[in-house]
Amino acid sequence: MLKKRTKSKRQVFRKRLIIAIDGPAGVGKSTVGQSVAKRLGYRFINTGEMFRALTWRALEEGLDLQDQKAVFHLARRLKWAFKPAADGVVLRTFVDGQAAGAHIRSERVSVSTSVVAANPGVRRLLCRLQRRLGRRGGIVMEGRDIATHVFPKADFKFYLDASAAERARRRHRQLKTLGLPADLRRIHAAIKARDLDNMRRKLNPLRQAQDSIVIDSTQLTMREVAQQMLRRIGFSL
Ligand code: C5P
Repeated sequence: MLKKRTKSKRQVFRKRLIIAIDGPAGVGKSTVGQSVAKRLGYRFINTGEMFRALTWRALEEGLDLQDQKAVFHLARRLKWAFKPAADGVVLRTFVDGQAAGAHIRSERVSVSTSVVAANPGVRRLLCRLQRRLGRRGGIVMEGRDIATHVFPKADFKFYLDASAAERARRRHRQLKTLGLPADLRRIHAAIKARDLDNMRRKLNPLRQAQDSIVIDSTQLTMREVAQQMLRRIGFSL
């Protein structure tokens, strides 16, 4: 007799939901988002990559980032593509055929991205791309305004938080592990400055959607956060 097939935990979660994750820098949205997407058989995209990739290209072209028209025109001119990485889960951003790799993580790009992220034309354009990516569902999307603006009707909205001190400690540990120079006080100050930039921005600032599920990860591991999310989504672990 054929053995009755049991549902595998990794089987595609058939409802094809849209899951939004917002929160401040360094809170673990990508780690958690990827792990949730993997369990559900969904795709995952980090929308920060789009803002960073554009900032990188604008800097490469020597544009004045304050020149909103010039940066917007560049964003329109670029050929944007989103292709799954080898794991089949993470969607990677490509501009003009080039993958947004480690170069978009440089300090220079990190500091400059908030100027580009405040550009209304750029936000409109990237929001359109993000909505297109989520059109068919089956996606976990992380950013700053996914629940409040991009997908206000997302099936699940999470707001991931952690104290700035804890986020700085995590980043410090990460840099040390990579053998890179790290100064905890400077990292802490930079994280607080980025929080303010993102929260005070006029257009689509970082804030909790009214109906977001807030998870404070200060005392939790990323694995525990992912498990909490999966439980709320109704995916049996
Ligand atoms: O997520 P990450 O920190 O890499 O994003 C880089 C920057 O892009 C953020 O600091 C923020 O200014 C901007 N961003 C945004 N809206 C998003 C995602 C990122 O404004 N949805």
